[in-house]
Formats: sequence, structure tokens, C-alpha cells
Amino acid sequence: MDISSYKPKKSINNKHMLTLKDYSANEIYEIINMAIALKQKQRAGKKHEYLKGKTLAMIFSKSSTRTRVSFEQGIKQLGGTALVLQQGDIQLGRGETVHDTALVLNRYGIDGIMIRTYLQSDIEELAKYSNCPVINGLTDDYHPCQVLADLMTVYEHFGKLEGLKMTYFGDGNNMANSLMIGGAKVGMHVTVCAPEGYQPSEAMVKTAAQFGKVTVTSDVNAAIQNCDVIYTDVFFSMGQEKSPEKVNALMPYQVNEELMAKAAKNAVFMHCLPAHRGEEVTTGVIDGAQSIVFEEAENRLHAQKAVMYLLMKKR
Ligand code: CP
Ligand code: NVA
Repeated sequence: MDISSYKPKKSINNKHMLTLKDYSANEIYEIINMAIALKQKQRAGKKHEYLKGKTLAMIFSKSSTRTRVSFEQGIKQLGGTALVLQQGDIQLGRGETVHDTALVLNRYGIDGIMIRTYLQSDIEELAKYSNCPVINGLTDDYHPCQVLADLMTVYEHFGKLEGLKMTYFGDGNNMANSLMIGGAKVGMHVTVCAPEGYQPSEAMVKTAAQFGKVTVTSDVNAAIQNCDVIYTDVFFSMGQEKSPEKVNALMPYQVNEELMAKAAKNAVFMHCLPAHRGEEVTTGVIDGAQSIVFEEAENRLHAQKAVMYLLMKKR
């Protein structure tokens, strides 16, 4: 069933948001529908303080602009409060375990934890011991909140998700992984176009392919044909060491005017941001008529408010 015929229930059963592997298509539709409803309320200036009195703790072991600001602003708009915990300021950064951190936070009446860190296993550990919902704000493996905002943006633009084709060009990183999983779940055909050595792991591709249609190729000219969404991300993710070899390998996968000229005229360009102009994308493309990157960035706010509302209101 496509999202356009889904009837929202305004609730989901999940406790946490760790990866979209744990979410069904209907649960993803539920979040997107809620995000669109919250966006309309915010645009109309209508109060929507559904999480009044609730506290979101935000743990950051990596830098952030969008995730940091949209979660903090989002919880405020929902009537709650944010507690920002940068790794360098808390004992986690000096070797206190994730286990002990979770047990301590459990004692202070925290209603939700958003965490951005390196290892997916660390957020799984946090979720295991936390008495409140844990939300993945990016790990080395996944970025589910970004993909929820991305799918919302695609739905707003095309009025559907099922049957659309998305091609991701570049490094087979956390974004490529989450786009394959999330896209496949909602009936899109996701292609990752990357050179050998920089493609998503076989295990990840196999996992994503269980949920729907996924292709991995190194053939740029084939991958650009007939796609509705062209996506890219940085050559070097946070925590990765820079190398000229990787730049050389990924440069032929740059999304530039020449590549866009081979795409369908109504195709859109997306990027989770931050962008490194001149590396994975040219300025002409990211600032061009087909780019919807800033709508996409705005939707982080609405999609995350929906995630917080659906997970935290139960507490
Ligand atoms: N797209 C994204 O997660 O941006 P930040 O790293 O700025 O949070
Ligand atoms: N792949 C990038 C995404 C940033 C939002 C990173 O992990 O740094």
C-alpha cells in the first residue's frame, strides 16, 4: 500500500528509533503523516504543546547543526525542554560506560534521549538499559531521522512514494545504508552507485533487499537513467580519515551539471547536508532549480517532532 492511501492512527507501538529496520512501512507512513500535520500547525501558528513538561536529553559525540537545532527547537515547540549533553562535557567522554550513563539518566525523570555517536552498538546498549525512548541522531551505520525527513520531502514533492526511483551517488556510508532500508520499506527502488571498495557492505545490501528493491552498481550512466530522486552525501563522514585515493575514486560519481543533464527533467536533487561543494556536488546543482535540499533540511524539524511525539507521549 502506498502512503497516499494509508489512514493514520496517531500512534505506533515501537519504544525506540534506532534504525528503520525495526519499522514497518505503516509505521513510517504514520510518522510522515504526523510530521505533515505538525508542519501545518506550525505554519498556521497553532500551538501544539503535546509534550508539555517533558525533557529530551541530547547526547552528542559528533558535531551537528541540523540535528542539534531541529531537535532542540522541536521539543520546545512541543512544550518540552532540551538538555544538551556534549561528549566533552559529560563523563561519557572520560570513559564512563553507556550502561552506567543509562542507569543514571533513568533516575532523573528524562522522557527521551537523542544520541549522535559512532557505534550503533552503543545506542543499542543505551536503549537496552534506558527506561525512556532512545532516538538515533546518527551513527557510523545509520541516520534514520534524516531518512524520515527525506521520505517526507519526496512524498510532499511527488504525492507518492511507492514506485519512485532514487539513486544515491557516492560513498556507501550511513546515509546510503539508511536510504536503502527506508526507501525499500516504502516501495521505492533505491540504487546506490559507487565504485568498488566504497559500496555498502554486502550484509547491509542483503538486509535492505529483504524489505524491497535495492540495486548496487558502479555504472553512473545506467544509474542516472529514469530516476526521480538523485541523492548524494559527503566523501568523508565524521570520524573518517581524509585520503586523496578516496577523492579520486569518488570524483567520477560527483553530482554535477553534466550528470544532471542526463537525468529526467522532473527529477529532484537531495542531500542530507552539510555539503562539500566541489566534491560530491557542484554549486550549480545544489543551488539549481532541481535542488530541494533546504525543504529537506526544514523537514528534519517536522519529522523529528513527529518521532518525539509518537514515542514520548506514551510516557
Ligand atoms: N543532516 C544532518 O544530520 O546534519 P547535521 O550533521 O548538521 O546534524
Ligand atoms: N555521512 C555524513 C552524514 C552527516 C549528516 C556523516 O556521517 O558525517
